[in-house]
Amino acid sequence: MPVRKKVTTLALREKKTRREIITMLTAYDYPTALALDQSGVDAILVGDSLGMVVLGYENTLPVTMEEMLHHCRAVARGARHALLIGDMPFMSYQVSVEEAVRNAGRFLQQGGMDAVKLEGGRERLETVRAIVAAGIPVMGHLGLTPQSVHALGGFRPQGRNAAAARRLLEDALLLEEAGIFSLVLESVPARLAELISRRLAVPTIGIGAGPGCDGQVLVTHDLLGLFDRFTPRFVKKYADLHAEMQRAFHAFIAEVQSQTFPGPEHSVEMTEDEWQQFLKDTE
Ligand code: KIV
Repeated sequence: MPVRKKVTTLALREKKTRREIITMLTAYDYPTALALDQSGVDAILVGDSLGMVVLGYENTLPVTMEEMLHHCRAVARGARHALLIGDMPFMSYQVSVEEAVRNAGRFLQQGGMDAVKLEGGRERLETVRAIVAAGIPVMGHLGLTPQSVHALGGFRPQGRNAAAARRLLEDALLLEEAGIFSLVLESVPARLAELISRRLAVPTIGIGAGPGCDGQVLVTHDLLGLFDRFTPRFVKKYADLHAEMQRAFHAFIAEVQSQTFPGPEHSVEMTEDEWQQFLKDTE
């Protein structure tokens, strides 16, 4: 069996050169990270989607650094091979470049991550340069950037007219120049994502951005059918674990109520001698 090596940012770049498609999925806990790592996925993103699919917030804005680091540590304990990327939460990198570098560093020092991701284009160049200069690999994120949900007027596709598409391409090129190792393109027209992917040397990872990207990412809870509130159009559900959980919970309730669970095989035994001694002692 071939020995699996740790995936690095350089390895993703080499995959693009060899025209091999990159796979990335999100994780927020130890068992999911373990299963993903064993499946052979290239990269695991501890996304701030954590806020919606695990913590039950309306959007990603309330997610804090402490919440992100807590979940990053759990993921880092489960994954040995995949490249681990921590998503910088809202307000952890927007206030000042200094704060951004410090927070990015915490993802590596305290969260066990290999790299960070942050949202935004031309307005983030100084921040990206400073984090990269500190030796921390940065993944960019353009298109539908959920931390700007209010500025964008909702979770809606981006780059759909010529001016917006041109701005997106310019932002992608500027981010590459600033030093990102990869770029997430979310909910943008497929032909625009393909063109950007061809223009960039660094790999693009698409979500709702068509098949022309260098890789694909989904939120694992969407893929598994674990998030009940809504499923974006671009998600493919590979399982319906919400229904499967319901089935298991109903079965447990029914068996407990009918006293078929626990059975003898789930119970702890005591010898008859010890039992008789106990009864005698308690008389
Ligand atoms: O937070 C997240 O899970 C993300 C992915 C959708 C790329 O940013």
